[in-house]
Amino acid sequence: MARIEFQQLAHAYGPNPATLDDYALQPMSMVWEDGGAYALLGPSGCGKSTLLNIVSGLVTPSEGRVLFDGRDITGLSPRERNIAQVFQFPVIYDTMSVFDNLAFPLRNRKVPAREVKQRVHEVAEILDMTRELPRKASNLSADAKQKISLGRGLVRKDVAAILFDEPLTVIDPHMKWILRRQLKKIHQQLKLTLIYVTHDQVEALTFADEVVVMTNGRVVQKGGPDALFLRPDHAFVGYFIGSPGMNLCPVELNGHGVKIGTQQMQVDPRTLETLRHASGALKLGIRPEFVSVASGEQAGAVQAGAVQTGAVQARVLRVQQLGNYQLVTAQCDGHVFRAKVEPHQRIDANDATVWLKLVTPQTVFFSNDERIA
Ligand SMILES: Nc1ncnc2c1ncn2[C@@H]1O[C@H](COP(=O)(O)OP(=O)(O)OP(=O)(O)O)[C@@H](O)[C@H]1O
Ligand SMILES: [Mg+2]
Repeated sequence: MARIEFQQLAHAYGPNPATLDDYALQPMSMVWEDGGAYALLGPSGCGKSTLLNIVSGLVTPSEGRVLFDGRDITGLSPRERNIAQVFQFPVIYDTMSVFDNLAFPLRNRKVPAREVKQRVHEVAEILDMTRELPRKASNLSADAKQKISLGRGLVRKDVAAILFDEPLTVIDPHMKWILRRQLKKIHQQLKLTLIYVTHDQVEALTFADEVVVMTNGRVVQKGGPDALFLRPDHAFVGYFIGSPGMNLCPVELNGHGVKIGTQQMQVDPRTLETLRHASGALKLGIRPEFVSVASGEQAGAVQAGAVQTGAVQARVLRVQQLGNYQLVTAQCDGHVFRAKVEPHQRIDANDATVWLKLVTPQTVFFSNDERIA
């Protein structure tokens, strides 16, 4: 397995990129540690497959270098790089048996027959496909075919890295869950360098040690689940991670704090100092989990000290009972906020006025969408 490094890497599919928008991958430098399990997460078209194909060698970057263990391999073919790649849709040989399909990458590398047999059986066991080994691949379901594809990715022990490009898309939800756990287990046992592309945040967060979040050809954050949740580096991470995502709202500086529309909230002096030095448009970010809602008789108590407590007045649009919490949607000066509150709190859904506490220790601030506080 290898440590993979990008040095000043960028890729444009067309010639002569003039602006950053012309790049499928904007210039970046980063390191994928040997033995790390990474998820590459982002919406359709953000550049995930481009990045993965640059690692495997299917795409040659238009700028910069790729290093495996310090060695420049930018010009090497996929075969010379020793990478296993599993694609979204199964790539298998229909006319061959399941066994022969799994054995293919090993025989291709002249692995001795006894070892081939042993490895194929090990992988079949992991995928719960031992009984299918003699069957012809053409007769299998899409699910089973994709399991074979996965197996072909896992069968070699000598690869520099294994790359998965949304490999579970065609697999039914229950099997997905099992396979994801299996992959995690395999990773822990074999310490493979794994890069796993997905646009599903749950898949990314449960699978990986580190999640690499991309948008518009840019890596906006590389971090563990806690960092992505609590300290998103970019407003996009706040919005994309979480369900629902982070509340994001433009704010203006004002006296001792910030203003949403005409309503003021006080922020602590240190944060205020940072905000004063920011040059870009300011946004406040707070996750629905951290917004508290004061309603009815509580509201009066908060009202008196509203500015000091960092709360704004809002109108309730909707209250949804979702079992272990209620999701409150409320509007303040044209901005919509969501709050997750405990199931027993009484909140009047019919146009009630409530106080939303938006400035808390968990609140973050962005300038031009980059987190500054
Ligand atoms: N062969 C190509 N030629 C030209 N442009 C391409 C090519 N492949 C991808 N692109 C463009 O590059 C950008 C990134 O595409 P990419 O396939 O890497 O995104 P992705 O994150 O994998 O998306 P998805 O989740 O839909 O698979 C997109 O704008 C896409 O249209
Ligand atoms: Mg893709």
